[in-house]
Amino acid sequence: MPKFTPRVFSGIQPSGGLTLGNYLGAIKRFVEMQDAGTHETVYCMVDLHAITAELAQPEKLAHNTRELCAGFIASGIDPEKSILINQSQVPEHAQLAWIFNCVARMGWMQRMTQFKDKAGKHAQNASLGLFAYPALMAADILIYHATHVPVGEDQKQHLELTRDIAIKFNHDFGVDFFPETEPVIEGAATRVMSLRDGSKKMSKSDPSDMSRINMTDDADAIAAKIRKARTDPEPLPSDMDGLTDRPEARNLVNIYAALAEITPDAVLSDHGGKGFGDFKPALADLAVARLGPIGSEMSRLMDDQPEIDRILARGAERAREITAPILKRTYDIVGMVG
Ligand code: TYM
Repeated sequence: MPKFTPRVFSGIQPSGGLTLGNYLGAIKRFVEMQDAGTHETVYCMVDLHAITAELAQPEKLAHNTRELCAGFIASGIDPEKSILINQSQVPEHAQLAWIFNCVARMGWMQRMTQFKDKAGKHAQNASLGLFAYPALMAADILIYHATHVPVGEDQKQHLELTRDIAIKFNHDFGVDFFPETEPVIEGAATRVMSLRDGSKKMSKSDPSDMSRINMTDDADAIAAKIRKARTDPEPLPSDMDGLTDRPEARNLVNIYAALAEITPDAVLSDHGGKGFGDFKPALADLAVARLGPIGSEMSRLMDDQPEIDRILARGAERAREITAPILKRTYDIVGMVG
């Protein structure tokens, strides 16, 4: 008997619209893992994480959280099959995070590249929450004793820290209580790049809207962004080796592969030899066919906000059946009485 129930946890920040990067790198995999039926699945809007970068925007936060919930459901997350929650509504996440703030070492946190990227030159001005962000992320995962965490490539270091925190806690207290969670970073689209610059990740915080496809973009916007995507003048090669020094071309091939659910090599065996004048319209048609229905379903769901709030309230109730006992056992191990 394995010690830990096979359980998947993952989260997305409600810090702006959902991008194609979030969809291909994360949500699509969430749906596959839910539908595989091999694991319990818990998916989370991490609003406590979102406020580490921007506080005092209450209406925006509430809107983004509900829109993200609509995005999960429109993409295929079924709130009956999966537990769908907003992080702040399951208080055990923040409670365990405090203990992890006392497990994690300053030196570990200072090595986090995402903090350095986000804080930039203004580290002294960044919130304390932004610095502690990865300890809260570890708590999100470990408060469920999650065994697997599907994420994009950029979260790898945070998942290594999660394992370090679990190992140190278990070691310091002489227990075998928290699992060493496995990251699941797989497929053609674990790092979707900007449409304007093949060396930068596609991101909701990029100032240029042309750099990303938003899940709420309509067909015309999706087609225009793909048409204007930066490329090079060469035709597509017949295999992936031919794309080594062509990051923009490689990115479009990877996006095509992930949307079509085929390998990048299969894309090139169909499209190798063609120029972008042929390939881009094919990619635009595919993207509109796959993303269009999700965008319209999102806006339909957003018309019934009370229903979204009911789904999140029910999700929080179900989540707490898992998290409350794990927090209680953690408190017992630490010696917190009463
Ligand atoms: P966030 O909100 O930045 O991104 C959510 C998910 O989308 C993936 N992603 C991408 N994948 C491929 N290409 C891209 N361009 C791209 N951009 C984003 C991210 O890798 C991520 O999987 N710290 C997390 C949120 C979080 C979390 C957690 C994740 C909080 N607690 C616990 C897993 C488990 C974050 O900022 O994600």
